[in-house]
Amino acid sequence: MKVLKKGLMHLVILFASIMVSTVVAKIQYHDFVVQATPVKRLCRTRSTITVNGQYPGPTLEVNDGDTLVISVVNRARYNLTIHWHGIRQMRTGWADGPEFITQCPIRPGGSYTYRFTIEGQEGTLWWHAHSSWLRATVYGALIIYPREGSTYPFAEPKRETPILLGEWWNANPIDVVNMATQIGGAPNVSDAFTINGQPGDLYSCSSSGETNLLRVINAAMNQELFFAVAKHQLTVVGADASYLKPFTTSVIMLGPGQTTDVLITGDQSPAQYYMAARPYQSAQGAPFDNTTTTAILDYISAPCPSRGMPSTPIMPTFPAFNDTATVIAFTQNLRSPNNVPVPTDIDESLFITIGLGLFNCPPNFSTNQCQGPNGTRFASSMNNVSFILPSSYSILQAYHQGIPGVFTTDFPAVPPVQFDYTGNVSQSLWQPVPGTKVYKLEYGSNVQLVLQDTSIVSGENHPIHIHGYNFYVIAEGFGNFDSATDTVKFNLVDPPMRNTVGVPVNGWAVIRFLADNPGVWIMHCHLDVHNTWGLAMAFLVENGSGELQSLESPPVDLPPC
Ligand code: C2O
Repeated sequence: MKVLKKGLMHLVILFASIMVSTVVAKIQYHDFVVQATPVKRLCRTRSTITVNGQYPGPTLEVNDGDTLVISVVNRARYNLTIHWHGIRQMRTGWADGPEFITQCPIRPGGSYTYRFTIEGQEGTLWWHAHSSWLRATVYGALIIYPREGSTYPFAEPKRETPILLGEWWNANPIDVVNMATQIGGAPNVSDAFTINGQPGDLYSCSSSGETNLLRVINAAMNQELFFAVAKHQLTVVGADASYLKPFTTSVIMLGPGQTTDVLITGDQSPAQYYMAARPYQSAQGAPFDNTTTTAILDYISAPCPSRGMPSTPIMPTFPAFNDTATVIAFTQNLRSPNNVPVPTDIDESLFITIGLGLFNCPPNFSTNQCQGPNGTRFASSMNNVSFILPSSYSILQAYHQGIPGVFTTDFPAVPPVQFDYTGNVSQSLWQPVPGTKVYKLEYGSNVQLVLQDTSIVSGENHPIHIHGYNFYVIAEGFGNFDSATDTVKFNLVDPPMRNTVGVPVNGWAVIRFLADNPGVWIMHCHLDVHNTWGLAMAFLVENGSGELQSLESPPVDLPPC
């Protein structure tokens, strides 16, 4: 395995075609055999924002305990920030990246150096742009190997391959979201999904008998995806950079933001097999991109089309697009390898509804600005608050410098109105209220969140991500969460630790964490379309006592607002 040179790394964001590369990163790449031999072609006539000329961007390979110093130069024509998805950022919230939450954007021509240390994390994470929809093409893998001298809790695989599942529009994704925002309707669905930047038939070669570690990352914008490899079982060993009790399955499901590490052994007859991803779509009747993206798992002894031989790889069988039962069966298998310290004496218990909504057409808007259902504009909310990003200061800066008027601290701990969340909800409850509301947490408090999907407009599985924290997913279920009967389902022994939880469609999930990281941390739906519509809030975790429980000072090159 190659280890990244510590010290200065350069991520240069280019506004250029995918093929252009003018700056070579001081980054060493992993050396598994993956060759691009696209059969279908992406539309590359549009200009695309890439990192160091690469799509996906460079893989960062580091060890637990490393300090990363990554300088980002913005050569794009858009504002930009980079988020290190899943990194705890202990006391270094200034390096977290979400635009107007922890920093103002890096303006075109500007730069910012992200500095942070990886403390007690190993496995697969990723990095991505956190400004508008730039992450559609600005993303890459972030692989954390065990500390020098320690090993995986499973036999060392022969090879390791990051598998980045992406989503592609034959249009500038910024134009796609800007158009949707202008008309108040749903954005166009994508044109293709990709594996490591290719829509089809990327090669990954392996030899008979070898065990390969696939680090699968769902980097798609708006789509949960099933992933499978024809004729091969997958042994799941980790998710979101946390190890799991190994179990085997023929298919995995990942929401955007989630990662899953699987071992795969070349135990079939030497041939070519498709590995493929296609949607899990839980919202009834909503349009979606129903295409399949493929790569080829090739046994090296099999005929290789890149050497001019014909091939007919075998396709995996997939669950139906709406197969929620398979998703639940999969997620219920996720267990921490050992007993874990789940917080028990809960100090802060929040019940948060998550879902869509519709704004009535504002009086000064024309009808073509209100092309949501029945002349409305699409919205989303948490506890009926549709999150609005500040536009002058970041929340973290406003908090740190005591600047008033940027946010309020009155995010409600419970829904303002109680109703049958997953039933037939009266249309009078479909209108959220816009706001920039945070919820304050004292340092060291034990927090429980019940995340409750609503059936407003449509129930849907929402991948909810919290910045700066991992949490235990202690239970999930369907219908309305009932504190009288559902607490018996709580797993306080070996629940999985994640940074992104798929809240079941028309259901709920309960998560717990210890608020031990001061700063401002956004929690949002990782379906970007929902995030754009306001499916977000932020926690403001106060400093504890002393330097080691307090947010560091902002770096001197923090982009000015
Ligand atoms: Cu993966 Cu707020 O992000």
